[in-house]
Amino acid sequence: MIDAPSSTTLLTMNEITNNSSKKSFLLRLLSLIGSIIIGIGLILILIMVYKNIRPSSSSLNVNITTTELISINSMNNSISTSSLLINTSIRTPSNPRCAQLTFDLIKSYPMNDIPYGFAIGDLNNDNMLDLIVSRYTNNAMDINFGGENGTFQSQVTLSFIKYLGYMSIGDVNNDQNDDVIIVNENKASIMVLLGAGDGTFYHYQFLPVGATPFDVKMGDFNNDNNLDIIVSVTDNNVVSLILGYGNGSFHVRNTVLTLRSPNYISIADFNQDNFLDFAVCEVFDNTVSVYLGYGDGNFRPRIPHLLTAAPYTSDIGDLNGDGHIDLVIGHSGNNNISILFNYGNGSLQSPMVYGTGIYPAEIGIADFNGDTYLDIVVANYQDSSLLIFVGKGDGSFPTKMLININPNSYLIIVVDLNNDGRIDIITASEDTQTIDVILNTC
Ligand SMILES: *[C@@H]1O[C@H](CO)[C@@H](O)[C@H](O)[C@H]1NC(C)=O
Ligand SMILES: *[C@@H]1O[C@H](CO)[C@@H](O)[C@H](O)[C@H]1NC(C)=O
Ligand SMILES: *[C@@H]1O[C@H](CO)[C@@H](O)[C@H](O)[C@H]1NC(C)=O
Ligand SMILES: *[C@@H]1O[C@H](CO)[C@@H](O)[C@H](O)[C@H]1NC(C)=O
Ligand SMILES: *[C@@H]1O[C@H](CO)[C@@H](O)[C@H](O)[C@H]1NC(C)=O
Ligand SMILES: *[C@@H]1O[C@H](CO)[C@@H](O)[C@H](O)[C@H]1NC(C)=O
Ligand SMILES: *[C@@H]1O[C@H](CO)[C@@H](O)[C@H](O)[C@H]1NC(C)=O
Repeated sequence: MIDAPSSTTLLTMNEITNNSSKKSFLLRLLSLIGSIIIGIGLILILIMVYKNIRPSSSSLNVNITTTELISINSMNNSISTSSLLINTSIRTPSNPRCAQLTFDLIKSYPMNDIPYGFAIGDLNNDNMLDLIVSRYTNNAMDINFGGENGTFQSQVTLSFIKYLGYMSIGDVNNDQNDDVIIVNENKASIMVLLGAGDGTFYHYQFLPVGATPFDVKMGDFNNDNNLDIIVSVTDNNVVSLILGYGNGSFHVRNTVLTLRSPNYISIADFNQDNFLDFAVCEVFDNTVSVYLGYGDGNFRPRIPHLLTAAPYTSDIGDLNGDGHIDLVIGHSGNNNISILFNYGNGSLQSPMVYGTGIYPAEIGIADFNGDTYLDIVVANYQDSSLLIFVGKGDGSFPTKMLININPNSYLIIVVDLNNDGRIDIITASEDTQTIDVILNTC
């Protein structure tokens, strides 16, 4: 019983050996070579598939195709697991309005002075956005009142004091009218202008903050439903939080020590505890630090992220669709931007770096092509250009678009200026001393 099969086997083998003709041998050789080739191919495919799917098996339950994986690595063709922290369940596939971004011709408004800071709001309650621009040397600021179709119809110049800088617009006294906050280097203070709702201001005051105030933003840091002011004070190496009473009065609550030369501030809830946090570029120490708020006007010790080449400007947005606010940094030192994805706790991942034009001076983040994914626009100060990185929603930016603009432009506002549902770009040129409006037609 046991021997029988083996003898049969032997017989069969003999049979094959004996009956093998040249033709069948060749056929077998060919099929053997064929199988080897197919085998090697299969092994290669398996290796490729394994290499590509391995990171995703260790990450979330996401459906990522191979092509998406490959396009994620913009820099050194390595697939890092960190870039796979994509939450597909909140990504709704959406087609862009246009295959390629399109913009109208640039419309320029002369201001005959060097623009320094600007902000947008509706100061006269006519449902059209107005643009305020500070003139650094001329003791003044301009209000450009918005008209139909994204135009500015009239301009009013208000004279105040020398060295008006960056500014922010919001309703600080809860009267439903926009108010304006402007930093003033001259008085080492910030100026608060209370708006009457008709384009005029009925009161202004200076709040001393120290030398030299640079960026100013507003948000409710102590959860009393009143806007507070946060300002970076570069020479003192502090960020000051000035709490609002909600009636136009303020008191300095907290002065947070930073590293050297605190500069641009971005406000967001970086750790999703419903309390506002902020990130500040500490330029001289090549660092950007996140300060997590307790919700009462106090902050935890900074979470520093060491970068390179003068992290100068910043902006925020959820760029990889995981529900966490990420940070984009412009480096004036080496013509790059860094994208730092947020783990969701205020710690940021090591940066993805993209090249820009010369001197990326300011960044705007918005969805320009209507595909629901955020894009990034960078003003290349010394390049007379804007560079738009078109986002895929997964943290990758496979497409770029360059727009030529006036020389030495550095300010950027991204907003739907003409109410057509498309995000437009406003910038300002030091060289031509103009406000330049670029309407989105995509
Ligand atoms: C992943 O793909 C499978 C099969 O195509 C589908 O059933 C599932 O809903 C997808 N999951 C997500 C999160 O998109
Ligand atoms: C993904 O997003 C969904 C919807 O917002 C959320 O419920 C879920 O907790 C998220 N998953 C992760 C791992 O963040
Ligand atoms: C705005 O655009 C509409 C449609 O193109 C046009 O009819 C209207 O005259 C424009 N208004 C102004 C003030 O340019
Ligand atoms: C605003 O409110 C604070 C605190 O209630 C009060 O001390 C201050 O006088 C008020 N300021 C004005 C202008 O009413
Ligand atoms: C930044 O840009 C420069 C060229 O502008 C490039 O050589 C360098 O590698 C970039 N830095 C990083 C960290 O990628
Ligand atoms: C945030 O999460 C990351 C990844 O889990 C971790 O490495 C980091 O230490 C955390 N940071 C804080 C401040 O908890
Ligand atoms: C480059 O590759 C290394 C691992 O080889 C990785 O840690 C790093 O994040 C990658 N850099 C970028 C910018 O993707």
